[in-house]
Amino acid sequence: MPARTTIAHRVFVTRPIAEAAIRRLAESARVDLWDDDAPPPPADLAEHLRPCDAVLAMVSDRFDAATIAGAPRLGVISNLAVGVDNIDLAAATRAHVAVGHTPGVLAETTADLAFALMMAVARRVAEADRFVRAGRWRMWTPRLMLGRDVWGATLGIVGWGAIGQAVARRASGFGMRVIYASRETPMAGRRARASATPARAATNASAAGAERVALAQLFAESDFISLNLPLTAETRGMIGRTQIAAMKRGAILVNTARGAIVDQSALERALRTGHLGGAGLDVTATEPIDPRDPILELPNVVITPHIGSASHATRLKMAELAVDNILDVFAGRIPRRCANPAVKLRVARRK
Ligand code: GLV
Repeated sequence: MPARTTIAHRVFVTRPIAEAAIRRLAESARVDLWDDDAPPPPADLAEHLRPCDAVLAMVSDRFDAATIAGAPRLGVISNLAVGVDNIDLAAATRAHVAVGHTPGVLAETTADLAFALMMAVARRVAEADRFVRAGRWRMWTPRLMLGRDVWGATLGIVGWGAIGQAVARRASGFGMRVIYASRETPMAGRRARASATPARAATNASAAGAERVALAQLFAESDFISLNLPLTAETRGMIGRTQIAAMKRGAILVNTARGAIVDQSALERALRTGHLGGAGLDVTATEPIDPRDPILELPNVVITPHIGSASHATRLKMAELAVDNILDVFAGRIPRRCANPAVKLRVARRK
């Protein structure tokens, strides 16, 4: 990427992203691009961050307090993701570093993948594909690869943000009964923080034909459970042994949120004993998952490599929004999509 030496702001982009977005960034800043799909090792990240005013970062880059403190000029971390659990938000706010993210533009695409995983597990799509490729398909037989109906089943959505609501809209087209638990509903036995827009959430729920229930009821009644909530201190480990035991026998769990929300060993045990009927996971406890992880032995599990928002069109929108978030800070404004909107900006306008 040719550097524009007349432009004072410097931005580190930690992975190759849509070229159109990088070109637009380069009109306003000197861009240092990490031209590799593998993340910069911590020492390289620190070195590249040191002279930079902004970083366009990925969920697989970690920004802990020490990394932020080692970047004295940094005014904005712009994450190419809606989730910001890779960033120490409190440390960023203390250091006057705004944290931008990309909600909204990825909701429909991520909901598509949640639905794809649900269908793939219920109808054994990945297993059937392996069966055919292994040359085991002899003839049509009435008991071959019997699965579960998605249509007419009950779907429980945990989290009622844009992605959860987009999953609900798809489910209503499949004639599913949709129930959901959100932050206004008692979760893990206690009442959690109220949503900023409960009235809008209720309107959207009635439009999608969804009913808000307590988490315990959602576990007891759902044939499919879709996790669509952010990873926070409150939700880390929220789906543990007790919660899984409370799920309906044979239920299918789909996680397109974050692996750390679920106790993966407890999930694996429940799948082995048959308490749960299957799982569709776009995210895992550690990423990438160890290829020897015992959960990979299970035929009723479909795992994708954290590709919820991975369509060409959506990744372009995310890149453009991530650039907008940086340019906002360069113009002295809070990013239009900001995860710590109370931050006092550090970056002053430069000439
Ligand atoms: C992806 O995981 C995201 O948070 O957008």
